[in-house]
Amino acid sequence: EDSCRKVAEIIEEVVANKPDALLGLATGSSALGVYDALKADFDAKKVDFSKCRTVNLDEYVGLPQSHDQSYSYFMHKNLFDRTNFDESKIFLIDGEKNGDDEAKRMGDFLAKNYPDMQLLGIGPNGHIGFNEPADVFEMNPHVTDLTKKTIDANARFFASVNDVPQKAITMGIGNIALAKKTVLIAAGDSKAEVLGRLFKDDVIDPQLPCSILKIHPDAIIVADKALAKKAGLL
Ligand code: F6R
Repeated sequence: EDSCRKVAEIIEEVVANKPDALLGLATGSSALGVYDALKADFDAKKVDFSKCRTVNLDEYVGLPQSHDQSYSYFMHKNLFDRTNFDESKIFLIDGEKNGDDEAKRMGDFLAKNYPDMQLLGIGPNGHIGFNEPADVFEMNPHVTDLTKKTIDANARFFASVNDVPQKAITMGIGNIALAKKTVLIAAGDSKAEVLGRLFKDDVIDPQLPCSILKIHPDAIIVADKALAKKAGLL
């Protein structure tokens, strides 16, 4: 909860300094607590999202926006519908449309709009967005095959592992690196190994996608103490 509150406060500071900020947002269990804290502060009239613009990191290919595991659905349920974001300022991928077309639409948007802040979770394999470990860092939005590790990690949200989509559309690592500020929240024991490597390995390696953050001029990593200890950082 403390981690989530810290991240929410960072986002609120971005919005206070720039009411029409473009917020790059994430889904997943780590983001959930951040959105609860943002909603609480919205209710307490500490923050106003009415002028903010948003763009989300990724979306599953094949899921309609009305599917309760689509990232569009997640964002509406956990943030947009509980606060005062303006629907016309929200950029979301439609997982039912052609993936390459949607990736291009997102790329066109990001070519003209750099997020003022990009919220990130981290996969147990070090992915950010759905940029899985690879031989190169992809620059722009693209359709990607999810790895078995990611499919298994996300199976908890679906009736069975066979229901987890095998492909997703994601912002590229390049798009993430061009955000003015990045804030990564890490939660859960499964992130300990990659979090440890992120700090200890002195390389920027596409096999550890989050390692791109090492060269970002304004990258914040937030983790709870138990996880940081497990990662060997404390
Ligand atoms: C979600 C996303 C992913 C998640 C990551 C961690 O939009 O881009 O990179 O942030 O898989 O997910 P959780 O927080 O559920 O462990």
